[in-house]
Amino acid sequence: MSKTYKIALIPGDGTGPEALGEGVKVIQSAAKKYNFILDFVYYDLGGDRYLKTGEILPSSVIEEFKKFDAMYLGAIGHPDVKPGILEKGILLRLRFELDQYINLRPVKLYPNIETPIKNKNPIDIDMIIVRENTEGLYVGAGGFLKKDTPQEVATQASINTRFGVERCIRYAYELTKRRSKENKLTLCGKTNVLTYASDLWQRTFNIVSKDYPEIKCDYVNVDAVCMWLVKNPEWFDVIVTDNLFGDIITDLAAMIQGGIGVAAGGNINPDKGGISMFEPMGGSAPKYTGQNIINPIAAINAGSMMLDYLGERKAAKDIEKALVKALETGKIKSMNAGKMGLSTSQIGDLIAGFI
Ligand code: IPM
Ligand code: MN
Repeated sequence: MSKTYKIALIPGDGTGPEALGEGVKVIQSAAKKYNFILDFVYYDLGGDRYLKTGEILPSSVIEEFKKFDAMYLGAIGHPDVKPGILEKGILLRLRFELDQYINLRPVKLYPNIETPIKNKNPIDIDMIIVRENTEGLYVGAGGFLKKDTPQEVATQASINTRFGVERCIRYAYELTKRRSKENKLTLCGKTNVLTYASDLWQRTFNIVSKDYPEIKCDYVNVDAVCMWLVKNPEWFDVIVTDNLFGDIITDLAAMIQGGIGVAAGGNINPDKGGISMFEPMGGSAPKYTGQNIINPIAAINAGSMMLDYLGERKAAKDIEKALVKALETGKIKSMNAGKMGLSTSQIGDLIAGFI
């Protein structure tokens, strides 16, 4: 009997469903070839549902998600819903309640994709960023005093626990070892100013490094990481960092690999029984909805990451190879919506055809 994986499918808002549809097309081709079954269960979450029913994310749905092998998300975000409501109510809540403590962001420049960085080639841009995904400034610790008065005070604290920092750093070391590219792990922090939070990260990083003598460790302040990502991206192999720094540097990194049309990420709970969620980095891009012009490559890459995580390594690799072949045809003219030279579904067909 073929192996069956249960996947919660959350297409979401705007162009999310179009992009994710192509991702499903491509991973289904890989499933057929490698003889496993993807059993999708559709979940209606996002701005449309919220506007219709007032519901954001029922707790019972979170309980249901725990029974799946993985989750595959399109995009969340609606022009008629105030910013923050869906992001906090769906995305961040899922990360926290499912304890998806790793945000994994491969940054790889594929052939025939334009990078804004002059004279850099695929060989120069190939790294993975490991972002802590459940702590730091994202926990919502803080508040207002004397709100809406001239004496108003606002605080927002970064919460860093030894437990949370250590499990993230260990994951990054393990990943660096498994990846065996340059065996180099860079800690990104701000030790020159954040003398408590970044200090905890640095001390933990140094302690864990003793278990990985084969890994070269490096430390770079976050502002310098931003400079180097643009000037010398080839210096990086794996980067590990906290939640907010990770949020910022992964957007910068997405741009050097060709933009949000390409960049994918995983919200990972690597523990036994943990459930992980894979998504394209881009938003719901509502203005392009229904036009079949959005770039599905990020969603396809997220699908490939999901298969890799499920243990279907060959299928995941095959999707990557098919993407490279599709790019090498020269038929995909740009990574930007509306300028690709092919429609969303044609790109999905092209890539699926190479599997
Ligand atoms: C991301 C996004 C989210 C974040 C937003 C939508 C809350 O930017 O996944 O990087 O800040 O983490
Ligand atoms: Mn972000």
